[in-house]
Amino acid sequence: MSTDKKQPDEVETTGHSWDGIQEYNNPLPRWWLYSFYACIVYALLYMVAYPAWPLVKQATPGLLGYSTRANVAAEIQRFDDMNAPIEAKLVQAELTEISADPDMMNYSVNAGAAVFQTWCAQCHGSGAAGVQASGYPNLLDDDWLWGGAIEDIHLTISHGIRNEQDEDARYSEMPAFGEILEEEEIAQVVQYVRKLSNQDHDAALATSGETVYLDNCAACHMDEGTGDRFQGAPNLTDAIWLYGGSDEAITYTVENARFGVMPNWNTRLSEAEIRAVSTYVHQLGGGE
Ligand code: HEC
Ligand code: HEC
Repeated sequence: MSTDKKQPDEVETTGHSWDGIQEYNNPLPRWWLYSFYACIVYALLYMVAYPAWPLVKQATPGLLGYSTRANVAAEIQRFDDMNAPIEAKLVQAELTEISADPDMMNYSVNAGAAVFQTWCAQCHGSGAAGVQASGYPNLLDDDWLWGGAIEDIHLTISHGIRNEQDEDARYSEMPAFGEILEEEEIAQVVQYVRKLSNQDHDAALATSGETVYLDNCAACHMDEGTGDRFQGAPNLTDAIWLYGGSDEAITYTVENARFGVMPNWNTRLSEAEIRAVSTYVHQLGGGE
């Protein structure tokens, strides 16, 4: 400590000197010092009151019992309680009555959209438009493999399609014609399918293909090619393709067949959720 005061009102210096430059020894401002002490007291109280120190399994819980996890659980519980009456109503209603009831409809469309984004969008696309030529159908149009009435949609979603988990899943199997028909017959029937769907085709091959079609395909896809919902056999006359309508895609389908699988949802979603998402899909545009 140096005491080399030059004038009576001048503050002492610390005695440090760098190339003749000296440092005043001013006391800390009061307001700063008290704020600093207040911060320390606050931190100590906080550590006692709230979760603070990480331990092996969890942090010290704090005296107030505050927990963000419990808050989320309580919040979820609050919403569940709020929705319980409408969900109970939804589960008891006739499927066909839902769309006539504004409350159930409003709930279904909102809750159904949330279910859809969580569980369905990865296959059917977030807008439900499916994925082109991938086997994941568009759910916005009125072209239904298994039926577009609310009961049909509900059954499809509950039990799924061609899965092994649910005995009541929708089931059908197109044979792989690569082992059944001659290469020439396949080329012919492919051109006939192109003709059915109003696409460019080889007229001579298509004419012979009609017989092949009626003998091998009409049992499922119907004489006119309009498909059969009992067997989930697609309509072949429209421009909507599950797996693609090019020569190559159709040839591949006929030779190897396809086997589109959808999981059953009755073990993963509640009946209220299934009804909500069925209603949501039904009102997207193509519901019957
Ligand atoms: C793992 C992929 C996958 C997921 C996830 C999935 N689906 Fe599907 N879904 C499919 C496939 C594949 C088909 C077509 C099966 C076929 O070829 O018949 C299908 C068909 C459907 C159909 C029938 C369409 C028709 O034309 O008859 C409906 C309705 C449907 N899905 C709704 C849903 C809903 C609702 C969810 C969510 C709860 C969902 N899907 C989740 C793959 C999936
Ligand atoms: C046992 C019934 C059955 C028979 C017989 C059958 N199909 Fe299919 N076919 C289906 C089913 C079911 C699907 C849909 C498969 C799926 O969804 O994964 C399908 C799908 C198709 C598709 C794909 C359509 C699209 O939108 O991508 C084509 C093309 C097709 N069949 C052509 C034929 C032709 C040609 C024959 C005769 C040589 C034939 N099928 C015979 C049941 C049948």
